Amino acid sequence: MTVAVVRPAASADLDAIDEISRHSFKAPWPRQTFVDELTRPHGRLVVAEAAGAIVGYANYWLVVDEVHLLAIAVHPDHRRRGLGAVLLADVLAAGADARVITLEVRAGNAPAIALYRRHGFVEVATRGGYYGGDGEDALVMLRER
Ligand SMILES: CC(C)(COP(=O)(O)OP(=O)(O)OC[C@H]1O[C@@H](n2cnc3c(N)ncnc32)[C@H](O)[C@@H]1OP(=O)(O)O)[C@@H](O)C(=O)NCCC(=O)NCCS
Repeated sequence: MTVAVVRPAASADLDAIDEISRHSFKAPWPRQTFVDELTRPHGRLVVAEAAGAIVGYANYWLVVDEVHLLAIAVHPDHRRRGLGAVLLADVLAAGADARVITLEVRAGNAPAIALYRRHGFVEVATRGGYYGGDGEDALVMLRER
């Protein structure tokens, strides 16, 4: 178990976030996406910091009565130490007024699906061929308050 604090991201964190993203996703988002998230009124970008290093991040939107989780990622060197769960707990706490928390996840992403199920998310739909590039399906997962 790694002890980490979760805090809002700042511009100085963007290189670390971008690096974690590139190590975590088949089709990483452009760095500019994270720049934009810092100024989007409904966007939230948070980082997990352990021993002075950024080891993970989460990105979500607060839209009316819903939290939409866009991404959660932990640096490969720091996985299976509870950091994904810590980041997800922060997302859930931030959306305390929300009615539901929703997300899409690649149908083949077993680690993430296990994390979400463990935290009360259930699969409510499949979006066929959702992901550009390889055309993998997305599972839509939802957790009600
Ligand atoms: C998904 C991800 C964020 C999990 O982060 P993590 O820090 O390793 O997760 P945790 O250590 O907090 O694990 C919490 C629970 O999630 C599940 N889990 C996490 N990784 C798993 C794996 N490789 N296999 C099976 N279950 C897994 C387990 O239930 C785990 O609890 P346990 O360790 O007590 O069994 C991480 O694997 C990651 O960054 N993946 C790449 C990015 C990604 O796919 N993000 C999700 C889509 S946006």
